[in-house]
Amino acid sequence: MGKPDPTLTYVQYLNLDQVLTAQKTRSAEHDELLFIVIHQIYELWFKQLLHELGAAQRHLQVGDTAHSVRSLDRTAKIFRVAVDQLDVLETMTPLQFAGFRPHLAASSGYESAQFRELEAVLGRRDPAVAERYRAGSAERARIVGAMTRPALFDSFLRYLDKHGYKVPQSALLRDFDRPWESSDEVVDLLYAVYQEDGESVLVCEHLVTLDEIVQEWRYRHVKMVERTIGGKRGTAGSTGSAYLRTTVGKPAFPDLWAVRTQL
Ligand code: HEM
Repeated sequence: MGKPDPTLTYVQYLNLDQVLTAQKTRSAEHDELLFIVIHQIYELWFKQLLHELGAAQRHLQVGDTAHSVRSLDRTAKIFRVAVDQLDVLETMTPLQFAGFRPHLAASSGYESAQFRELEAVLGRRDPAVAERYRAGSAERARIVGAMTRPALFDSFLRYLDKHGYKVPQSALLRDFDRPWESSDEVVDLLYAVYQEDGESVLVCEHLVTLDEIVQEWRYRHVKMVERTIGGKRGTAGSTGSAYLRTTVGKPAFPDLWAVRTQL
């Protein structure tokens, strides 16, 4: 760490010269600035979410409840803000969007590497996703890294292990580059955790909250897409809202949902 610089200004500290000149509209449409600003804010939140989830995983791995809960709580609150932001974008009518949409060409949120990394941290395992990014690029390396490391749920199982629960070895030592498969043994274990009603339940509930909000984001995004472009195809070439609907309602932590039927 360097020494504090007494001459540092607000503009320098926040790099505002770069940040505030990064909104380059490509049309004369009034609403294009909002579209750019919101996407940039999302990317900044994605960056913060990845930072925060990294911390959450480190705290979980060592069994630290207080700090795990704090990080998971912050993560969920950021996601809440991200979901609520869609209200602002929904003030744009279909015609206003259509006015600058051709300027987006084939670009789309579908290409967001940070979003794909986030999905991987939450457990998605799909090599084809990483392969969409140029070989040797930093984006691809980050996604591959996240798809081969323990996902958030793996860190949570490690947390339970640290707290003395008998987590199946097959779950603790699984291949992290494979998708997690729900298991009755793990659901039974979660049943025991909930019966004790101790601090580990706090962690469970924070994970469920996070899972719920991520699913809510997907639902709100597809509804916004429907109201803005109806049944048109997406700029990335997908079937648009039809494709997006296939991604809705899929939990990241299915075991934590399954156990609720037994409680
Ligand atoms: C008027 C606003 C928006 C429209 C019409 C829209 C439309 C779409 C469409 C049609 C897709 C499917 C892929 C494609 O063919 O392009 C998509 C994917 C996606 N969009 Fe948006 N979007 C909007 C706003 C946003 C915002 C603000 C974000 C925030 C980052 C975002 C993030 C994403 C992501 C991450 C995906 C990939 C989802 C997945 O594959 O599961 N979109 N969007």
